[in-house]
Amino acid sequence: MTAKIFKRTLVTSALPYANGPLHLGHLAGVYVPSDIYVRYLRQRGRDVISVCGSDEHGVPITLKARNEGISPQEVVDRYHAINKKAFEDFGIFFDIYSRTSNQVHHETASEIFKTLYEKGVFLEKTSEQYYDQEAATFLADRYISGTCPHCGNPSAYGDQCEQCGTSLSPTDLVNPVSTISGSKPVLKETKHWYLPLDKYEPWLREWILEEHKEWKSNVYGQCKSWLDQGLHPRAVSRDLDWGIPVPVEGADGKVLYVWFDAPIGYISATKELTPDWELYWKDEETRMIHFIGKDNIVFHCIVFPTILKAEGSFILPDNVPANEFLNLENDKISTSRNWAVWLHEYLEDFPGKQDVMRYVLCANAPENKDNDFTWKDFQSRNNNELVAVLGNFVNRAIVLTHKYFEGRVPEVTGLTDQDRATLEEIKSIALCVEQSLEQFRFREAIKNGMDLARLGNKYLADTEPWKLINTDPERVKTILNISLQICANLTIVLDPFLPFSMKKLRGFLQFGECTWDQIGTPDLLEAGHMLGLASLLFEKIEDEQIQAQLDKLHLTREENEEAAEVSPQKEEITFDDFTRMDLRVGTILEAEKVSKTKKLIKMRVELGIEVRTIVSGIAEYYEADALPGRKVCVLANLAPRTIKGIESKGMILLSENPDGTLHFVEPSGEAVNGSEIN
Ligand code: MF3
Ligand code: ZN
Repeated sequence: MTAKIFKRTLVTSALPYANGPLHLGHLAGVYVPSDIYVRYLRQRGRDVISVCGSDEHGVPITLKARNEGISPQEVVDRYHAINKKAFEDFGIFFDIYSRTSNQVHHETASEIFKTLYEKGVFLEKTSEQYYDQEAATFLADRYISGTCPHCGNPSAYGDQCEQCGTSLSPTDLVNPVSTISGSKPVLKETKHWYLPLDKYEPWLREWILEEHKEWKSNVYGQCKSWLDQGLHPRAVSRDLDWGIPVPVEGADGKVLYVWFDAPIGYISATKELTPDWELYWKDEETRMIHFIGKDNIVFHCIVFPTILKAEGSFILPDNVPANEFLNLENDKISTSRNWAVWLHEYLEDFPGKQDVMRYVLCANAPENKDNDFTWKDFQSRNNNELVAVLGNFVNRAIVLTHKYFEGRVPEVTGLTDQDRATLEEIKSIALCVEQSLEQFRFREAIKNGMDLARLGNKYLADTEPWKLINTDPERVKTILNISLQICANLTIVLDPFLPFSMKKLRGFLQFGECTWDQIGTPDLLEAGHMLGLASLLFEKIEDEQIQAQLDKLHLTREENEEAAEVSPQKEEITFDDFTRMDLRVGTILEAEKVSKTKKLIKMRVELGIEVRTIVSGIAEYYEADALPGRKVCVLANLAPRTIKGIESKGMILLSENPDGTLHFVEPSGEAVNGSEIN
């Protein structure tokens, strides 16, 4: 635990992959807390910069490009623009939002790799990896599919079986296939560079386990368990055609592993932002803080610090306040299943309500354990906290001032003990917020901040100025003065959390931006100061809006589940196999339910060549009475079968939905009985 005094702070927020849009999980885990923290430090007048950007390399991006038939650059251009804008619109402020496909970044990452290479840090190892001879390329784990050795799922990936959840390596797969060309891959030798984490283990143990006992317990615990399991060399290069080329001789077709280059993106972004970048990266008086999600802990606490340490001239992170995961309506957020609330859609569906979501995600942040977001909780926190506590207090203080004093801040005519205690309380509340934020306890911080609004509400409820106005207007002056001072203090204390609403509130008060030090100072609003007009700070959210979000979520889930359940294609057949089937158009002449069965209907079908009796299991889906006259497709040369004592000659073609429901395959009206289908 260092009680070190720092001159400046560098805040980094995990670079989101530019292969998809941002959702609530990203915001709650990383960006809402980092934004609150940075805004708070700024208000305290600290020297702070905040950097972020798009992570634009790695296999997920090449996969997305391949699936959509566009280039990786097009993929990252699209999502870089979407995500940059969504952050801005949501009020997540970065001094720079850069991207790792930039020239500066390619140079920075190459240089660091070269430095380590020249220092002899890396191990070079040759191993056998799957190679696609048709496409002339080595295959990343995700580009290989095959049968899972554990559960027999025929479409497991080279790194994981999504059916049984087992993590795999490509050589575990039975019958591996390249997803690029469909050919069978062969094992081929390839050389890679490895970071010998094992050699840095003693240093890492000391640095993390001894010197950073103050790290959050979820972070410290994960580091300890990695270290206790023992570290191994990790490959920092890949055979891939998208990324930063490995900058040494004999490395054709090889790029830096995305987790080698991505965190270096923080350095590149700082370089792009300021010529003084070295102050932020090389001066021991800089405090570096990484905001990340829990799946990034090992890379930010073990791998990246090892790279920085091996390079030798950089500082290390002072803290890594990682959050756990946010679930959604009791289920894991999943991009592939579309179980997510997308930020750009939220911004469209709830215009002007950025702060409501910022509030809910902070108040309910997955700080020490996974947590659940529900739309019901979103609604009740808005209605019961933002509207009923904060909005209500501010509105009463301003409206009463307009009503009794023509909108001018009245003067203090004398203080009671309760007045003094209330004014004192402002400072101690701010101190609590401060202490919570300094320890990255954001849930606690926002709750403490809201205590200031609660204090205001209680003060008004206790003093009841609306009852005193006729008997003791002098006393009402003091009461409203103090209430308005609380409002002014709220604009400072809650600004890091609710920047849009506090800006609005400053407008109501005709009050400028203040610094954190000004909290609790006397007469923030001077007597005689003219207030502006107030409208509602927060609006009630109705049940219909919440239901609409729930419907949207469940609808997309159903669509996805149907899509997912479509059965895979069957084994290939030849054209001859197909022509052996005699398929014909026919018309149902008569139909009756087969007695004592639930499903069967017996039909007489005109097939052009003759009239056939056919039994079919469709009674749950069609009424026998409605069938005569319907055109159907029939497999005419199917060997006769006896069903419930009836000889059925042929089969009527039906399609089957994933839920098991059956539907006739209907020929068009012009097709005549007996015509062949081929
Ligand atoms: N793109 C990674 C993710 O979304 C995070 C990268 S953080 C960085 O999980 F430091 F590597 F950039
Ligand atoms: Zn499996």
